[in-house]
Amino acid sequence: MRKIYSVLRISGLIALAVILAETTLETGEASSFEKYPVLWLILGVVILIAIGIEASVAALQNTLYYSLKPEARVRYDEAMAAREQDRFSWIRKTYDKLLDKKPIEKEDEIILDHNYDGIKELDNNLPPWWLYGFYASIIFAGIYLARYHIFDGTSQREEYLMEVAEARAAVEEYKKNARGLIDANTVELLTGEEDINAGKAIFAGNCAACHKIDGGGGIGPNLTDSYWILGGGIKNVFNTISEGGRAGKGMVSWKTDLKPEEIAQVASYVLSLHSTTPADPKEPEGELWVDPDARIDEVEVESEDSTSVKIEMDYTATEAN
Ligand code: HEC
Repeated sequence: MRKIYSVLRISGLIALAVILAETTLETGEASSFEKYPVLWLILGVVILIAIGIEASVAALQNTLYYSLKPEARVRYDEAMAAREQDRFSWIRKTYDKLLDKKPIEKEDEIILDHNYDGIKELDNNLPPWWLYGFYASIIFAGIYLARYHIFDGTSQREEYLMEVAEARAAVEEYKKNARGLIDANTVELLTGEEDINAGKAIFAGNCAACHKIDGGGGIGPNLTDSYWILGGGIKNVFNTISEGGRAGKGMVSWKTDLKPEEIAQVASYVLSLHSTTPADPKEPEGELWVDPDARIDEVEVESEDSTSVKIEMDYTATEAN
């Protein structure tokens, strides 16, 4: 029996140590034991010491027991058995205390003297569990009032906004470090000077032979106009560079030569060439590209009397049909 309690005590100690380590150490997502492997060592030492203490206490008790005279041993055994029997009596006692109920035999002490057609009323004390909960809620209300209405604590809304801002910052941070994960679905137009310059260098080194250094086009199409054979916009252009053009046309897939991040940079650079005027531009090929994500765009159209007018197109209106 005693061994079971030893095991329980040691397991409790382990659980407590783990909970303490997890709740007190600031480790973000990872578990404390992953972040600080030395904790395993500390835990191991703690367990060893605990087992040592349990073992020596048990040994001591054994020695004392065998040094007792036979009659004393019997008395000791009886005392131990009695203790064992009401080991859990405190649960019962606390439960009774929390209810503070009069036993049925003593109910006549608290019975009220009125009588409704034979129905009588007992004047029990309020159960302490309820009463203390009530006091606690009054104290809580006081603290709450002071914190949020007098001292201007952060409200749920403010906390929410702060957390969203933090999460945004974390996403930005993640994107900065995880650029290698970009693909044609997640790529976004890069506009930073560093990225555009990197794209420019990649373009000069790999693409200018066919597209000309200014993007005006040669073997490959003009990249500065609004017409695209394989689709405009960062996602399509990324895809074209990554997977290559139509078979046999000369635009190969670059995904084995360039990292996703580099493809995003060169694609962004290509798009930054839009509307520039190359020295010797090739005729537009493919179709006029309008960004489906853009809601309002200015499109130049030839009117019937061939004067050029600008109209504002609202794509939300067309989408609704
Ligand atoms: C060997 C010549 C050659 C090289 C080198 C080359 N391209 Fe091309 N590129 C082409 C041809 C040809 C096409 C047209 C493909 C088609 O019609 O399917 C094209 C198409 C494209 C398109 C699509 C244009 C459209 O109208 O849809 C983009 C974007 C593009 N290239 C970017 C690049 C980039 C960026 C590089 C460098 C990493 C590059 N190309 C290197 C020949 C080349």
